[in-house]
Amino acid sequence: MPLKITIIGTGILAWHLAPELERAGHVINEIYGRSEDKALQISKNLYNPTITESLDFSLSTSSLFIIAVSDNAIEFIASEIVFPDEAMVVHTSGSVPMSTLELTALDRIGVFYPLQTFSKERKIKFSEVPMLIECNDQLAEHDLEEIASSISSNVTVVNSEDRLGIHLAAVFANNFTNHMIDIAGRLMENRDLDLELLKPLIRETVAKALDQNPVEAQTGPAVREDTETMQKHLDLLDFNSRYQELYQLISESIRDSK
Ligand SMILES: NC(=O)c1ccc[n+]([C@@H]2O[C@H](COP(=O)([O-])OP(=O)(O)OC[C@H]3O[C@@H](n4cnc5c(N)ncnc54)[C@H](OP(=O)(O)O)[C@@H]3O)[C@@H](O)[C@H]2O)c1
Repeated sequence: MPLKITIIGTGILAWHLAPELERAGHVINEIYGRSEDKALQISKNLYNPTITESLDFSLSTSSLFIIAVSDNAIEFIASEIVFPDEAMVVHTSGSVPMSTLELTALDRIGVFYPLQTFSKERKIKFSEVPMLIECNDQLAEHDLEEIASSISSNVTVVNSEDRLGIHLAAVFANNFTNHMIDIAGRLMENRDLDLELLKPLIRETVAKALDQNPVEAQTGPAVREDTETMQKHLDLLDFNSRYQELYQLISESIRDSK
């Protein structure tokens, strides 16, 4: 069922989600943003949304409001926004409980969380993005499931507690892995070497960890308890005590995971 939708926020997620919802046949009716410029940029990829800097939507004809602002702004927006009667509101965060939206006093509240990492310049196949949804009302949950299914073939109902747990696991899988690759790049750069050299290894690391049990896939000095090599590495990291601490902590964690 095609819907009229209002998007609150003009960040990276709004940039990806708004056109995806229109591709699925819905209409982005309004976009709220603090910056008109950013809202206009998003609207260029849409049919004809109204751009607004006001949170008073009492006259809006939208039936779904998607709050896609920074996690720490959701509570503020939920307390300031004025909705039309009968609307439903969701946020898109992995770590904020659904109950934060009880501040809106709307009967139907929920969560519409895409479990993926988005960047403005990278295209993501939304059909493959797991959509984790939650709702305070069974009928509305069914509606939300339909909307999520219109953009993704991977939709799961998850409560706030489990969603936070998934978000934590995602921080390890994505943010920390990415940070490790960043450090690897810096260590290469320190020797005027190119990260390109490591890319086949990085690709195989991820592919292997997904294909088999990562504990079994683990190689390297920590799992072999090769203290001599580990000491040489720690000496090389003499210029950065934080990297040394990270090296030691992660090596101990690898050893204890065996
Ligand atoms: N990016 C991802 O990979 C990803 C993935 C899944 C879920 N999410 C979730 O999606 C939501 C949006 O994330 P994002 O990545 O799009 O964030 P973002 O790119 O950092 O954009 C944040 C948006 O929130 C707005 N905002 C921040 N504080 C505000 C306030 N006090 N009042 C009004 N607007 C405010 C910002 O406005 P200005 O531009 O004016 O500062 C901007 O439009 C978050 O809940 C996030 O957890 C993100």
